[in-house]
Amino acid sequence: MEKQIVLSGIRATGKLHLGNYVGAIKNFVDLSRDETKRCFYFIANLHTLTTHTNPAELRESVKDIVRDYIACGLDPEVATIYAQSSIPEITELSWILSCIAPLNLLTIMPHFKEKRDKLNESGIAENAGLLTYPILMAADILCVKSELVPVGEDQAPHVEFARELAKKFNEAFGKLFPMPSFFGGAGLRLPGLDNRGKMSKSETSSVIYLDDSPDVVWKKLKVAVTDPQRVKRHDPGNPEVCNIFTFHHALETPVNNIIRITKECKSGEIGCIECKEILAKVVNEILAPIKEKRGRIISLGASYIDEVMHNGGLRARKVIQQTVAEAKELVGIPCY
Ligand code: TRP
Repeated sequence: MEKQIVLSGIRATGKLHLGNYVGAIKNFVDLSRDETKRCFYFIANLHTLTTHTNPAELRESVKDIVRDYIACGLDPEVATIYAQSSIPEITELSWILSCIAPLNLLTIMPHFKEKRDKLNESGIAENAGLLTYPILMAADILCVKSELVPVGEDQAPHVEFARELAKKFNEAFGKLFPMPSFFGGAGLRLPGLDNRGKMSKSETSSVIYLDDSPDVVWKKLKVAVTDPQRVKRHDPGNPEVCNIFTFHHALETPVNNIIRITKECKSGEIGCIECKEILAKVVNEILAPIKEKRGRIISLGASYIDEVMHNGGLRARKVIQQTVAEAKELVGIPCY
């Protein structure tokens, strides 16, 4: 039986955090253990260039993510792990797609508008890469003929855009690409500890990193926002508006515990600190095996990660070269 192709990527913009784990990587791992799937997971370091321009940080960040991928349970022998920059054919396909991509759709992408506004607020003009970001992302998805794209909800418009380009390409030049679908799976969107938007790398204080020690986790949780109406220890709280409860649910604190603390929060019996202590335990239980695995990876030496990326790059490139050659042939621009 032909395996279904799964592809996803993460931009290299620093270490991964708990939001990445519950929102995306847990899905990556589950899918990679499904024998009916063939998974490609890459680091979108070309996409990083749209917002980050420090070469040394970029290099480190790619390796950090590969390390985190493996520490979270991806087996590089099973899933193909690679850096986008190892495969020049992706940018070649991106150019071809850019010539059929509707410019007006790009200008209304939520991500583009958000990033542009943020840059403009600090007096920086947006670059063209930010606008064409979804085209490169479509090339990432289509170059392996992916059918399933496990990503966070915020990336859904980008997957939709890739479908649009696949359809346009197939209609104009001949059927080459399957239609890729967004896959949310069990992915959840974790809020930041300050409860202002999602947990995001750009808000470092509101993020729990996958390598945070129990002490650091506690330091961050202790000051995390709860029900703002609950001022004193014995005030009744409202779990429905409390950020900490969002975490309890997303991180799967045992149901019995949730039922108890929900009741005791409402009646003012349990204080926020105690409720956070229960959460800290849950967080540390998730992080402990990841940390342990990362320790083992580090003990293999820096060359291990280079080797994983090199081998994954070769494997992915073989597939991608083939697709891009087919695309060029169909469009009428073969390599003479
Ligand atoms: N835009 C994605 C993000 O910021 C990263 C990404 C780039 C991606 N290319 C992709 C994700 C292709 C899935 C498929 O998280």
